[in-house]
Parts: sequence; C-alpha cells; structure tokens
Amino acid sequence: MVYQWYPGHMSKAKREMQNELKLVDLVIELVDARAPFSSKNPDIDYLAKDKKRIIIMNKADLADDVVTNQFKRYYENKGFAVLISDARNKAKIKGLDKLIQEVMKEKIEKDRKKGILNKPVRAMIAGIPNVGKSTFINTYFGKASAKTGNKPGVTTSKQWIRLGQGVELLDTPGLLWPKFENQIIGLRIALIGSINENILDEREMACKLIEFLKANYKGLIENKYGIAESDEEAHIILEKIADKKACRKKGNELDLDRMSKQLLDDYRAGKIGKITLDRVLEEFPDDERRKAES
Ligand code: G4P
Repeated sequence: MVYQWYPGHMSKAKREMQNELKLVDLVIELVDARAPFSSKNPDIDYLAKDKKRIIIMNKADLADDVVTNQFKRYYENKGFAVLISDARNKAKIKGLDKLIQEVMKEKIEKDRKKGILNKPVRAMIAGIPNVGKSTFINTYFGKASAKTGNKPGVTTSKQWIRLGQGVELLDTPGLLWPKFENQIIGLRIALIGSINENILDEREMACKLIEFLKANYKGLIENKYGIAESDEEAHIILEKIADKKACRKKGNELDLDRMSKQLLDDYRAGKIGKITLDRVLEEFPDDERRKAES
C-alpha cells in the first residue's frame, strides 16, 4: 500500500495559510507528541521563516514521556520555543503566556524604543488535521475569550481573540497539510489519525503497529490483550488477539478487519500505553522533507 494524501482542499489551505501568515508576528505550531517529527508540516519552516515560532507538542498525555522530552530538547536546539501540552487540561497549557512573552520580548522592546507602545503581538495557531488545534484554543480561552472584531486595514473578516498582555490570536487555526514523500511518515500520520482512515488499509496499519510495538515497546501487547508476545509475524499476532477477544464474524471466522479497527482505536485512545512512533535519532534526510515545498 502506498500512502498518498494531498487532496485539493489542502492546496487551498496552503494559499489561505500564506495569506494568514502576512497578518501575524508569531506562529504557534501544534504537533502530535506521538509523532513530533512526522506530524510537523514540512513546509511551515520555509513559509514562516520570518516569523517567531513556538512548537506545542500536544497530546503528550498519550506519548512516551522520555521521547517527548528528547524531542523538546531537539526542537529547542533548533531554535524553537517548545511547550509540552495536553490541550484538554487548562493547567497543562498555561505556560504558553510566559513562552509568548519570552519569544516576543525582543520585538516588544524594539517597538518600545521606536515609541510604539501597546501594539499587540499577533499570533496564529497552525497544524495538520487532528493534532488538537480547536481543543487547544477552546481550553486556552474558554468561554471568557474576547473576540476583538475586525481590524481596520484588514480586508478579510478575521477575528482576533485577546490573549492579555498585548497578544492577539487569530481565532481560527491555520490548517496545514500532511504532505509527505516518505512512506514511513505517511504510515505514522495515519496511525495517529491525521489522515482520513477510509483511504487506508486498516489491517495493514494494524500489522505495522504490532510490528512497531513488538520492536519498541515489548510487553504492551501482552499486557493489553493477554496473548504471549512471540516471534511470530504481526498478522499471526493479530489473529491471536482476535481469537482471544472472540472477534468473529457470523460463521465463526475471525473478523480481522474489525479487530484491526479496534486495535487502532485502542492505540489512538492511549489504551495500549504511552507510545511515540518517531525517534529523535532517526532524522529523515532533509531533501525528503523539502520535496513537499511545492
Ligand atoms: P484539530 O482542531 O487540530 O483538527 O483537532 P481537535 O481539536 O478537533 O482534536 C482532535 C481530537 O483530539 C479530539 O478528539 C480532541 O478531544 C482530541 N485531543 C485534542 N488535544 C488532546 C490532548 O492533548 N490529549 C488527548 N488525549 N486528546 C486530545 P475526538 O475524539 O475527535 O473528539 P472528542 O470526542 O474528544 O470531542
């Protein structure tokens, strides 16, 4: 199976993103902490090269804490400010205020020296589908979020939410496109649910997940499904899980499609464990990422 996904509306999203970027000083990119590299849009570094940047590693509650911290350092070393987040939990994301002030300190100071006082910093949240952009905005602002209305000179009907301390956020998150050349990245984006799964073979994905878990998180399949982990191939393990779970069609045949779906749901809901698919050290060649820049 070849993972390809670049529907027409993503080209539109890219154009919209380019327009929205003109309105902001700061881009806050959400990535999924279960795949902090694969879920990071390949083009945003190029498109937002003149902007200040924050990376939010969201869904950290579902990810491997050790790898999350490794990726935090990795991105910090690349010059990004990084927040580890669970967007459903207000207490876990309150650090964003401070981070924005730190990142924007220089600009605010420069403006002040030029006599420009109280000019709000403008920011936008962006990310590929399903990384938690809407959840983050809802939790962060809650019901108290103040819409500041249209701004003079801005022809589009963009709404801004006041963030306090001179920061305004575009109220609709920017949708980035999960375009990729590398098939491993494609699989991981599919596993975390950022690609519409109907276009993918779920049984193959379930088998790939089993292979990955066997190699990287020994014991988790056994814990969750009560079958002895063995050297057998992934599809045999899938059959064993289906058998154990009595996941059968009418006629008593194992229902491997249903079991695959269940396994993927269990993974996405964090029921198998805190699992991260990317590794810091397995950087993919830059040219593979850069191909997406068209
Ligand atoms: P998007 O705007 O980037 O497309 O993502 P959205 O906020 O719609 O979130 C996608 C799903 O991820 C939602 O689940 C949301 O609840 C969940 N989610 C967002 N942030 C986090 C997080 O930090 N941790 C965890 N565990 N889940 C998170 P859903 O099942 O589609 O909807 P719902 O039933 O939760 O409402």
